[in-house]
Amino acid sequence: MKKKISLSPDVPCGCNSGLPYGECHQPIFDAPKEEMLVVSWRIYAESWATNADHYRVQGVYANLAGQIANAGDIRRVLDIGTGRGHGLAALRDVLPPDIRIVGVDENPECLAAAAQLLGIDALPTNIRRAENSVLPNGYLISTYPAGNLIDQGSITLIQSDVIVRDSALERLLNAAGSFDAVCLWFNGVHKARSATEIARHFEVKSDADNRTLVEDRVLSIAAERLRPGGILHLVNRIATIDIEATGRAIAQTYRDWLEDMPFQLEAIGAFRYEEPTGGVLVRSADLGVNEMPNYALSMLFRRR
Ligand SMILES: C[S@@+](CC[C@H](N)C(=O)[O-])C[C@H]1O[C@@H](n2cnc3c(N)ncnc32)[C@H](O)[C@@H]1O
Repeated sequence: MKKKISLSPDVPCGCNSGLPYGECHQPIFDAPKEEMLVVSWRIYAESWATNADHYRVQGVYANLAGQIANAGDIRRVLDIGTGRGHGLAALRDVLPPDIRIVGVDENPECLAAAAQLLGIDALPTNIRRAENSVLPNGYLISTYPAGNLIDQGSITLIQSDVIVRDSALERLLNAAGSFDAVCLWFNGVHKARSATEIARHFEVKSDADNRTLVEDRVLSIAAERLRPGGILHLVNRIATIDIEATGRAIAQTYRDWLEDMPFQLEAIGAFRYEEPTGGVLVRSADLGVNEMPNYALSMLFRRR
């Protein structure tokens, strides 16, 4: 049996967050293995509240929602990685009253917070579905039962991991029909992701690898579920001293990546904002980029 390494809570965490181990991965690694995901989800949900509240007061979500509202007749939205619901609240403020939004997130604590923020009764059978277990190889896995999910109308929140096959979610989305918009705003994940079977299977070695994996999946979902003329809205946190050059380079990377997909890059936008001092960090403290200006870099793709 592997010996458990005990690190001092004061040493810098090995994940390069710049936080002391005791405030970063320690509570997760100290949890019994079968509870690691639950602990990690809770910590992430609490931590993301700092970010999301900070972004909201600076108008980040209102700006992003405005981009969607200005992109045509948008009423049916599939939001992937809904988090604590700040994006959905902003969309509800600017889209027509007959909107239908499906918000998907793998973190049940985020979804419970989203329901509270939005003032809706999310069904526990929709937002607390994952069955977590530890595989014989030691990695963590969440599975999602095949039983029917309930479409709650205007806003439906569903716990699911978009990397995992989830037949119940697929049935709900099939029944919902095609979407006018698919959103992925601020792609990021909890700190125990590296301990999951998904990370092992897809050889995810870093947060950046995980973001690419999720984005890749979201591109497939958007290709399948957007109506022609619908929009895919990808938003990422970027720190740079030259937003023009960085934006151009990132746009080109996406044009190349999406070359064989039915999407046309229509608009790229950058909204300057300040990161909070705590919360979920954008980047390593080591990289010397912490003093750089932060932007929410949004790319709006039109489905051909
Ligand atoms: C950085 S937060 C952004 C939340 C929200 N979009 C916002 O702008 O406030 C990223 C969210 O994506 C969720 N997420 C990450 N990977 C996911 C996956 N594979 N499937 C579903 N949700 C995922 C996380 O649980 C987290 O709540």
